[in-house]
Parts: sequence; structure tokens; C-alpha cells
Amino acid sequence: MSLTFNPSQSRREFLAFFGRSTAAVAAISAFPFALTACSTTRESALGRLPFQPMLPSTADELKLVPGLQYTKVLEWGDSLNAQGERFGFNNDFLQFFAAANKTDEGVLWVNHEYLNPSFIHGRDIDRKSVRSKKEIETEMDAVGGSLVAIRRSTDTGHWEMVKNSPYNRRVTGRTPIPFAGNQKIKGSSTAIGTLGNCAGGRTPWGTVLTCEENYQDFYVDREIQSDGTTRPMKSGSDFVNWSAVFNHPPEHYGWVVEVNPWTGAAQKHVSLGRFGHECATVRQAADGRCVVYSGDDWQEKCLYKFVADQPGNLEKGTLYTANLERGEWIPLDLEKSPVLKKLFKNQTDVLIYARQAAELVGGTKCHRPEDIEICPRTGAVYIAMTNCVIQNDYHGYILKLEEENNDPLSLKFKSSTFLAGGPDATISCPDNLAFDPKGNLWVTSDISSSKIGKGDYQPFGNNGLFFVPMSGPSAGLAFQVASAPVDAEFTGPLFSPDGKTLFLSVQHPGEESPSIHQLTSHWPNGGSEIPRSAVVAIEGPTLQKIYDATSLEG
Ligand code: FEO
Ligand code: CA
Ligand code: CA
Repeated sequence: MSLTFNPSQSRREFLAFFGRSTAAVAAISAFPFALTACSTTRESALGRLPFQPMLPSTADELKLVPGLQYTKVLEWGDSLNAQGERFGFNNDFLQFFAAANKTDEGVLWVNHEYLNPSFIHGRDIDRKSVRSKKEIETEMDAVGGSLVAIRRSTDTGHWEMVKNSPYNRRVTGRTPIPFAGNQKIKGSSTAIGTLGNCAGGRTPWGTVLTCEENYQDFYVDREIQSDGTTRPMKSGSDFVNWSAVFNHPPEHYGWVVEVNPWTGAAQKHVSLGRFGHECATVRQAADGRCVVYSGDDWQEKCLYKFVADQPGNLEKGTLYTANLERGEWIPLDLEKSPVLKKLFKNQTDVLIYARQAAELVGGTKCHRPEDIEICPRTGAVYIAMTNCVIQNDYHGYILKLEEENNDPLSLKFKSSTFLAGGPDATISCPDNLAFDPKGNLWVTSDISSSKIGKGDYQPFGNNGLFFVPMSGPSAGLAFQVASAPVDAEFTGPLFSPDGKTLFLSVQHPGEESPSIHQLTSHWPNGGSEIPRSAVVAIEGPTLQKIYDATSLEG
């Protein structure tokens, strides 16, 4: 198949092509965005929408369209219990586990992805600053995850933390966590801590999956060589760099971690491979086994799925990587893909260094695969490819992947572009995804905080939350519903069981502050306060109007 792209094609058509041919390297950002057909569709769609979408904003506030309000449920530093545990930094993925026979009370899991050392310690810290062991332990306590009992208050009607609930607890960068099946990794069957907890998933048996993404920021990563030895990664970041104080093996991070929300018991799953897991999205096959989709959110890294051997657990199974050009899942298995024997001597190393294995078997180099959701109506898999600057994709797209016969066990699929980011789409850098109870898609954007409002990203203003109908004449168009505070990103969108609430994480407001004495954001507490990531509950009549309109569109 020719990889030549005709410049008269629209960006949307280009990306439809690109979804099948990722070797293409044409300069996407150079294409004109004024698409008359698209504009007409958008204009007529606006007349049918049950709300007026907002224009981009650069305000340091959480703005919402009319008919929606938010209340703050949790913020960094909140006291969780009498043991002195506190709600962590940079909240991300959310998952709710309702109490028996309740929809408005339960336990919320919250990821805490990474941290800003200056905000944590209250003094300006750069890459060269020395921090004490105690300070690094404080940083370790700020990441991982929180389990927090929440309920809708009978007094105020708002969601609130149940203070000192026995279910309030932390899993942190210091919590000992065993590897599933007592498997030993680098000589130990227990890792110290979880970190880089970005997005995640939920199992059918009621546990949460939390994903370790940018683990190389904490302990300098290594890669394997053909003689079985390892060497430090040249590209390893030293943003936080706990390696200066602790020598925990980097191979203990980059896994999917399963947590029981009621007990806090956790285990790391070697079977799902080690890479920059953005998420772990579960679909059950007809025979009850779980299939878990996960993207490696780095430029030119791969897309994966794991197929469990048995229903009811994830301990054993086969990990595959996607070749989008051929529409095939390729096993990362020494026996089924013998090319792996060039670099690997055993299957455990294949899983530990899954990035290198995926490259070896021909996994497609993707545009930073981030969140993944399964359409509840069709079973199609939607994957946010947030951007890939080194392949000149500045605005990203959402890939639609359809398994052959709609069977998650299938090893063949077709893929296409569902939504191409860019000014004509009004959204850039799609990241987190969620389906609402009516099957509409909600998308958050993640323009890097250092690039918000600059260059190609100037028209988009701050990051936002977007509503995308999945049926009717407006299907696939994005309409902005919320705008984030300065430097922030919305993460972890989650609808409550009754659909009345959209929980949302507001992550890294004020991240680009040049100093703690010169803050770019004071959200959420205003005045001269330091910015704090927080979880909010969004409610209001516009949500119900959207559901009602969706019913009409069928
Ligand atoms: Fe943590 Fe890829 O976002
Ligand atoms: Ca993300
Ligand atoms: Ca992101």
C-alpha cells in the first residue's frame, strides 16, 4: 500500500489514512484547518445541542457551561484519618465502588500521579537541589493512591468525604506491594511503593487497576542488552530522582497494580508487562476471561492488550502489541514470536522490558496512546492518541479499533480515526475518555502546561472537558463543556452510578509557576494561596438535558 498522502485531503481524511499507515510522516500541522463541510456540520449541530458550548478560556478558574456547577470533594493535603494520612498530590484516575444497595455512598479510589517538590516542601527546588532522605520520604507519601469513603450529604446534598472512615487509607511510594503469584523481579517478590499512577481500570470482580506511567522520573530506568545485562537508559529523566537516596530497582515500577478498595490489599501484575501504562481498560470475553487494553504514553511507543488465561484473575495470560498497519495483535511470547530470542532468554525479561519486545516484533509506533474506553453500545475500542511532536502530530486524534467479529479475543482488527484534533475540531491533545450512561463520549484535553496558549496551541486556551455525541448527525463532533484553571489538566472523568454526577480530577494547576513566591494559579482557594489539585463533583440540569437529547437522537 502506498504511504503517499494527497495534500488536498482534509486532516480528518489524512488521519483516517494514518490510522492504517503509521509509517507516514507528513507534516500534519501544516495543513489548512478551514474545512467548510466540517464547519457546516458543526453549525447545524449547535442548533440541536441542549447547551451552548463554551469558548476557550484562559481564566484561572474551573469554568462550566450554564446549567452545571461544581463542588470540591477532596484536595491535596486533606486529612484522611487519625493515623495522619493525607490526600496525595496531583490527583488523576478516579474509580467509585458503591456500598451495598447504595448509589450515593461508597469508596472512591484516586490516583496521585506525580509531584511538584517546590509545592511539597514550600521552598523553590530545581533539578540540582539536594533534598534530605526525610524530604524524599515525604514525596513518596504524596504519590500512589488514596481510598476515601465519600457520600452525598443529607444536609447539603453535596458529595463529601466521610472523615475518619475505616476505609480511608493511602497506598504510597513507600507501601510494600507483592508481585502477583509471588513472582520475583530483580531478586525480590515485593516492590517498595507504587508511583506514576496515571489512569487505570476496574475488574469485573470489584478491584481497581492503577497504572504506573512515568516511572523513569522517580528511579532512573534501564534497558536490557542481548547478553542479558542491563544499562541505564540515556533518555531517563531525573525530574524527581529518588535514586539519589534509595536504590530500589527501576524494574519494580511500570506495572499495573490491582488494589482491593475495601482492604487496600495490592499486588503488581507482571503478566500485563512493564511500560509507561496509561490505563488498563477491561473488557470481558464471552467465556468470562478478561482482556485488558493499555497504551504506553510515550512518543512512538506501542499499544497493548492482555488476554487472561482464566476467568476471575489476571495472573497468567498473553500480552500482545498492536500492528495498526496490518490490523494484527502480535504476541510478546518467546515461543510464539521467535524473533524475541534475539534479545531475550526468558519470558519474564520479555515482560519486564516489554517496550523493547514490542519494538522487536513490529508493534506500531503510536502517537502517545493515553486513555482507552470501550463503547458500551458497540464494543468498539476508543484510544486517545494525544500527540506525537516528533512525527509532526501536534493535536493528536482518537483512534477507533474494532476487533474482528467484535470479539475481544480476536487477533485481527480494523482501525480508523474517530476524531482528529485541531482547530477545526476545537479540541487538541485528547487524553482521558469516559462514556456517560447514555453512551456519549466525554474527552479531556492535555495540552502540555508549558505549551498552553502558545504557538499552535494558542487558539485552544486552557485545557478543557468536551462532550462528543456518539449517535445522530452530531456524532464525532466535540463541544467544550468545561475549562480548567491555569496550567491545569482535567483527568479521571467518572460518572456516578446514577449518572447525576460527573467526578473530575483537576490536576497540576499552577505547574508552570516560576517560584512558590510567583504563582501562576491560586486555584481552588484563591487569594495568595498555593494551587492545589482537587477532585470536584459536577452536577446540574444540563447533564439531564444531554441525556434526554441523546435519547431523542437514538
Ligand atoms: Fe499521565 Fe499519559 O498521562
Ligand atoms: Ca493521562
Ligand atoms: Ca496526559
